[in-house]
Amino acid sequence: MNFDFNLVLQSIPLLLMGAGVTVKITVLSVGFGLLIGMFAGMARLSKIWMVRVAASVYVDFIRGTPLLVQIFIIYFALPMVVGRQIDPFIAAITACSINSGAYIAEIFRAGIQSIDNGQMEAGRSLGMTWGQTMQYVILPQAFKRIIPPLGNEFIAMLKDSSLVSVIGFEELTRRGQLIIARTYASFEIWLTVAFIYLVMTLTISRLVDYLERRYKIDDKH
Ligand code: ARG
Repeated sequence: MNFDFNLVLQSIPLLLMGAGVTVKITVLSVGFGLLIGMFAGMARLSKIWMVRVAASVYVDFIRGTPLLVQIFIIYFALPMVVGRQIDPFIAAITACSINSGAYIAEIFRAGIQSIDNGQMEAGRSLGMTWGQTMQYVILPQAFKRIIPPLGNEFIAMLKDSSLVSVIGFEELTRRGQLIIARTYASFEIWLTVAFIYLVMTLTISRLVDYLERRYKIDDKH
């Protein structure tokens, strides 16, 4: 078997376009996931049991079912309820954001719990409300500690976003499939696709390393 290097070179622009879409889905999903996860993470620690239970059900359901099935539910099952087709892009972002939110909720919960209780008590005794103490005292400190697990989530999402190729959404993996359907060059294309993912994940790791050093925990009391 000979490696068709020319084909790889020709396919690179198309694959890179797909990689751009992959990055877009990942950034949007982790972005929305951060918002969802921050609130769900705090909800998991709420004093109101209904809020706590609702957040637990969300996290358990999402983490306990495959992302692939969640994508199918949103893209194929949900339209039967709402009565109209959902755009693959919207379906992909929705599924990945809801999924990422559940993982990030646990990251936030652990981060918040890692902050000494005295910090909340100090805030409250200064007259701040629970919400204000959370916002100005707890979350800024927790945020530094959760940079490494958030980096992991980013990398995981970048790779898992390949699952949205099943609804025909043209990110990197789907682009690879389409090129192979035309050229039959499985070997060359899958290796190239893998290599592009690798470059992206290594770049994120470096970035996270940098952020971690930059925000080196100076709150070690
Ligand atoms: N592979 C797992 C699943 O199929 C996780 C997918 C999403 N990963 C993530 N870090 N959000 O459910």
